[in-house]
Amino acid sequence: MKLADKIAIVTGSSKGIGLATAKKLLEKGVKVAGWSRSATPIKHPNFTSVQVDVGSYDEVKKAFGQTIQRFGEEVAILINNAGLGFEGDFESLAEEKWHLMFSTNVDSIFYCTQLVIPKMKNLGEGHIVNISSIAGTNGIAGMAAYCATKHAVRGISHALFKELRNYGIKVSTVYPGSTQTNFFADFTSVASNENMMQPEDIALTIAQLLETSANYLPVDIEVRPLQPKGKQ
Ligand SMILES: NC(=O)c1ccc[n+]([C@@H]2O[C@H](COP(=O)([O-])OP(=O)(O)OC[C@H]3O[C@@H](n4cnc5c(N)ncnc54)[C@H](OP(=O)(O)O)[C@@H]3O)[C@@H](O)[C@H]2O)c1
Repeated sequence: MKLADKIAIVTGSSKGIGLATAKKLLEKGVKVAGWSRSATPIKHPNFTSVQVDVGSYDEVKKAFGQTIQRFGEEVAILINNAGLGFEGDFESLAEEKWHLMFSTNVDSIFYCTQLVIPKMKNLGEGHIVNISSIAGTNGIAGMAAYCATKHAVRGISHALFKELRNYGIKVSTVYPGSTQTNFFADFTSVASNENMMQPEDIALTIAQLLETSANYLPVDIEVRPLQPKGKQ
């Protein structure tokens, strides 16, 4: 897809991978609506910050309305990136944390994607990029609930790419390993560090996915730090 002047929604845009992705798409001339609960710290004529809890369908509908009002209906790109994870043994994980991970990481994909599909079908093109995780292909001790949400992202993505391909709509999934963001702020077992990948690296991969030619669909992209423990 040629990116200049396309309209994109990036969820989880206030920090980390989403913030870097919004910046990268703006560099490419995309009109970007950045959706997160807190305001996104970007000032740019092609950017609008929308404050929304993507785990609430009512809020997502309002955010979508605001986005369309600002840029128009022809939304061609959706980056389903908003997400969070809590660590904890399965037997003691608080029920609220289970539900918060599912509403933020999984329900949000249903809400946001359901609203953009009709617009992409009208356009005859579109690209939905879902951010899963290495936790979406492997089990990680102490992260069962998070792993469940990210495996769900994989299942949704694989079904959707088959459902939407004949409308000219692509669905790709990115599975990052550890990335230096705010994600680990409340973790005790791991701290964000410079041997992790940088959010700008993931953003570049997302932009490259979007720029692929019309009949070329990268389905799954797994990315990892080359030397996660630093140079040995
Ligand atoms: N960092 C890693 O190592 C890693 C690895 C694999 C996959 N991932 C995935 O990458 C994605 C981005 O995470 P990150 O690493 O960039 O973490 P981050 O720095 O913590 O950023 C998370 C973003 O999601 C937003 N968000 C969280 N809950 C939200 C909600 N209910 N509604 C709207 N926005 C919400 C946050 O904004 P507000 O707080 O302002 O709402 C923030 O902008 C997530 O899906 C995560 O699971 C991360």
